[in-house]
Amino acid sequence: MPAPASAVAAIATARPVLRLVIVGHVDHGKSTLVGRLLHETGSLPDGKVAAVEAMCKRRGMPFEWAFVTDAFQAERDQGVTIDVSHIRFRTPARDYLLLDAPGHREFLKNTVTGAASSDAALLLIDAAEGIREQSRRHGLLLSLLGIGQVVVAVNKMDLVGYDRARFARLEADYRDFLAGLGMMPAAVVPVAARSGANLARPSDEMPWYAGPTLLDALAALKPSPSPVELPLRFPVQDVYKFDERRIIAGRIESGALAVGDTVLFSPSNKTARVKSIEAWPAAAAPRVARAGESVGITLDEQLFVERGEVISHVETPPVETNVFRARIFWLGDHPLRIGSRYTLKLNTLAVSVEVQEIERVIDPADLATSKADVVERHGVAEIILRTRALLALDPFTDNPRTGRFVLVEDHLPVGGGVISMEGYPDQRELVTVRATNLTAVAHRVSQAVREARVGHRGGVLWFTGLSGAGKSTLAMEVEQRLFARGYNVYVLDGDNLRRGLNSNLGFSAEDRAENIRRVGEVAALFADAGFVCITAFISPYRSDRERARQAAPGKFHEIHINADLAVCEARDPKGLYRRARAGDIKEFTGISAPYEPPAAPELVVDTDRRGVEECAAQIVAYVERSFALERESNGRGSQ
Ligand code: ADX
Repeated sequence: MPAPASAVAAIATARPVLRLVIVGHVDHGKSTLVGRLLHETGSLPDGKVAAVEAMCKRRGMPFEWAFVTDAFQAERDQGVTIDVSHIRFRTPARDYLLLDAPGHREFLKNTVTGAASSDAALLLIDAAEGIREQSRRHGLLLSLLGIGQVVVAVNKMDLVGYDRARFARLEADYRDFLAGLGMMPAAVVPVAARSGANLARPSDEMPWYAGPTLLDALAALKPSPSPVELPLRFPVQDVYKFDERRIIAGRIESGALAVGDTVLFSPSNKTARVKSIEAWPAAAAPRVARAGESVGITLDEQLFVERGEVISHVETPPVETNVFRARIFWLGDHPLRIGSRYTLKLNTLAVSVEVQEIERVIDPADLATSKADVVERHGVAEIILRTRALLALDPFTDNPRTGRFVLVEDHLPVGGGVISMEGYPDQRELVTVRATNLTAVAHRVSQAVREARVGHRGGVLWFTGLSGAGKSTLAMEVEQRLFARGYNVYVLDGDNLRRGLNSNLGFSAEDRAENIRRVGEVAALFADAGFVCITAFISPYRSDRERARQAAPGKFHEIHINADLAVCEARDPKGLYRRARAGDIKEFTGISAPYEPPAAPELVVDTDRRGVEECAAQIVAYVERSFALERESNGRGSQ
């Protein structure tokens, strides 16, 4: 949708603009502060103050700066061109676009959807009331959304007799709290919005305050780096068919795009060259389009592209994954629960997402974290989300535009948050096929003939579990037992393969994923050759195990070698947990790297409750049941 001309005219001035989100409870004097700021900076239309004065007099009420803001707002509303929450005020050096956030829901929605992506925040505290949960929550929300630049205004100093000690205490407490979030306010300014004290001019009532006025503090804030500097992200909004042409339309979130560029579509991983850039209004077809512009492009070849895909340059693609971590803020009436599904709105995409894990719930009062099964309304938490298909996304720290999302339930936004990929691999490499011009060759020895010769089916026994759970021990024990029973059986063990086939891989998320991809393919070959192939790898990611399953369709048996982390750590057969706790080993599974237990394994073996003997017998019995040939299924038993 093209923006209305009047809105464009209002916003598109050549003057620099700082986008400032104002957060604070209404009772903390937000409207008064805004009204007064507009007045002090000469941003109000002539006669506005006089009109409000007259109105107050008529009604026999004291003058209220909040009325100025309200009247101003109402006037803007009639214009219907600008979002009601956007108020602009001018200073000699630059303009400010104040993004008001009436409540959590609006704030979150605006901020997360990018409607209110702001450079900085002005956070309001009530000097009389002190720091309440609200103010803490606001700080937490800002940190969550990565808004690091904050000016704190301690308002209503007039109500506390401009008391220096009271301000000092509030300032120290709130600075402490923000420090816990890794934030340092640019300034903490004592103000009285009603009288204008310390807004534009130093206040006579607070001679003890030596810091900047509020406007000076705001003037010191820096605009965020322009999204044009970031890699290209152009989420596909729509594909229009015009005569022969297909126009791919959307808004460029970051970076820039030029005619002739080779672009990559994610997650479909198709590439094409940009043939033309169309724009609204279509004056002359531009050669380049930049972040913030809504454009349409045509390609040099017809690709089937869908809404939700992300266009990038080939060299700087987004992450591809079906699982990610998120720090979220929850607003739903019903608590967020593990296993619940919501609609994930990410860029132009809307897909179903499942809450796989609630890792930590953060208490806004003291920032204490705890483990919980639910996140209550207004809760902040770190969770893991999983989708069925691959998504194209960015960690929030890499790209704030494409690294945030909203969760929707019954058409209402119920939460939002920012993405982190910490501990999780980019799966792009795993699904990219580079080889071309291949023709599969058929074997002349059929599977049935092979199986008939060895007397049992081939397949994969995929052991997964924490280090120290007993995977290798059980693998070798089961191998010996099955061999003794006449099975063709072979163990692929993590520590062993990492000395050879996988010696070039470490323990980063991507390396682990590649480790498991290779093992999955090799195990599938063994299974095809008629072997019972036992694999003993931590294989911490569900997606990797799922891919290994797909490599050996119908022959894959996931076996969870299950023991509590505490038990594994107490066993510590290789002394690695001790070293991991000491910080000597980074990214150690269960300590500083994730382990995702299987959701629906074929078999669970509890090694913390049963001995090796019993566990091995359980697995052998499973193999006898599952690998027997049909015609022999009654005969093999326990020979
Ligand atoms: S996996 O995560 O990629 O599946 P794999 O099973 O191959 O791991 O290798 C695990 C073995 O590597 C462990 O048994 C341990 O001996 C060793 N190891 C070394 N560093 C790590 C680490 N950071 N995390 C887990 N295991 C590690």
